[in-house]
Amino acid sequence: MSVFLETGRLTLRRFTEADEDDLVELDGDPEVMRFLTGGRPTSREEVRGRILPTILNYYERFEDLGAWAAEERSTGGFLGWFHFRPYRNGPRDGDIELGYRLRRPAWGKGYATEGSRALIHKGFTELGVDRVVAETMTVNAGSRRVLEKAGLKLVRMRTVRTTEGTEHGVAEYALTRADWEGN
Ligand SMILES: CC(C)(COP(=O)(O)OP(=O)(O)OC[C@H]1O[C@@H](n2cnc3c(N)ncnc32)[C@H](O)[C@@H]1OP(=O)(O)O)[C@@H](O)C(=O)NCCC(=O)NCCS
Repeated sequence: MSVFLETGRLTLRRFTEADEDDLVELDGDPEVMRFLTGGRPTSREEVRGRILPTILNYYERFEDLGAWAAEERSTGGFLGWFHFRPYRNGPRDGDIELGYRLRRPAWGKGYATEGSRALIHKGFTELGVDRVVAETMTVNAGSRRVLEKAGLKLVRMRTVRTTEGTEHGVAEYALTRADWEGN
């Protein structure tokens, strides 16, 4: 197992091909996908053909950026994932994007905040990151709360038109190293 980071309660490690079932279960929960796809579960074919290969491809390009499987240290159980990666697949020297997706039984225990704070700390102290950014649907109150608890500040709101022709609001958050150090 290739461990990237440990916190009090979490282990963040690299994904492997063996994580397909866990990802299918995670993205198969309409509640998990509510603010991501409107609740549409992701099929096994999509996980196998697109999502897992994209995650594994990051490890080819970056030693220390990408998506990390989160496990509960006490049980070894799969909790979901965090990502900490170049924004919109851009260059390494740009903004680093924070994100997370956890299985429903793991919600409400502070795990997303704990993992986010640890990634931000590592990013600013070890990985040479200058700015962490994140986006979430404006109505995703839980996710916005996590970002705020992790120290990010609201930058702006904007409207996005989806391929289905509907619109939704997106909240953009950011935290610079200078602001983080000043806290
Ligand atoms: C969003 C998510 C990662 C939060 O994970 P978590 O481990 O439960 O988060 P934490 O326990 O660290 O913190 C959640 C905070 O949001 C609050 N919260 C949760 N749901 C809320 C809601 N509907 N309205 C207001 N606040 C809410 C919690 O009370 C908590 O704040 P508090 O500590 O001040 O009480 C998790 O719900 C998830 O994976 N959701 C599905 C995927 C998703 O939406 N990902 C984000 C996409 S941008």
